[in-house]
Amino acid sequence: MATETTSQRPLPAPFNNSTDSLTLITQGAEALLYKTTFLTPTTPAALKIRPSKPWRHPTLDKRLTRQRILAEARVLAKCKRDGVSVPAVLALDWENGWTVSEWIEGVTVKEALRKRNLEEGDSAVQSLMQRIGHAVGTLHSIGVIHGDLTSSNMMLRQDPTTHGTLDGDIVLIDFGLATQATQEEDRAVDLYVLERAFGSTHPREEALFGVVLEAYGGVYKGARATLRRLEDVRMRGRKKSMLG
Ligand SMILES: Nc1ncnc2c1ncn2[C@@H]1O[C@H](COP(=O)(O)OP(=O)(O)O)[C@@H](O)[C@H]1O
Ligand SMILES: [Mg+2]
Repeated sequence: MATETTSQRPLPAPFNNSTDSLTLITQGAEALLYKTTFLTPTTPAALKIRPSKPWRHPTLDKRLTRQRILAEARVLAKCKRDGVSVPAVLALDWENGWTVSEWIEGVTVKEALRKRNLEEGDSAVQSLMQRIGHAVGTLHSIGVIHGDLTSSNMMLRQDPTTHGTLDGDIVLIDFGLATQATQEEDRAVDLYVLERAFGSTHPREEALFGVVLEAYGGVYKGARATLRRLEDVRMRGRKKSMLG
């Protein structure tokens, strides 16, 4: 019987009889994310499994899973090639629905902001906001829309030499909803989603969101038009929420 506890379903080969460590990190609506190792026992890796959905027709289910996995891997490959910091894809299997990618040592931006020491003042947050704006601007300048920009889908690469909790290079993750689009509207909505996500998850830092947009404008040539469109998107958002 299908249950919500997809983690109890057997893992696909070769992960079902592996003696390597396998730690469940998150269980989202679409995917399970494990920390494991790849090729050598000391190379950490992220294993993302999209379990089959038993309520979907098997042919359709296979096709959708394959499309998602391939689309995500293609976008990641493009990002890597064009200088956007993302995890490297190490292996994938669209038949069984998994991707292995480089393990990013660090924390999500969400965790970093939650854990931040308050001695790390506004300037540390501003620097983080700048790095976020720079990453998103670079992403848009290569023609990629992320589709789910939140502080959980950005990581800070950190190592033992990292000082502050907000330090580290931004690595964008979770490209399952990414598209390659050139519409102004798509970029504006990408920014709007991030803005809203910040407003609800990090109300204390929301006032500094302007720094993200400023840094975005510094790297993405078409930013003026996108930011103008963002105003329209915000306006529509407000109207919609007034209508309830
Ligand atoms: N390459 C990675 N390295 C380290 N941690 C990762 C990596 N990819 C994902 N994670 C962690 O797993 C969580 C879920 O991964 P994500 O790709 O966002 O899947 P979901 O679709 O479930 O949101 C992330 O928020 C992050 O904490
Ligand atoms: Mg995610």
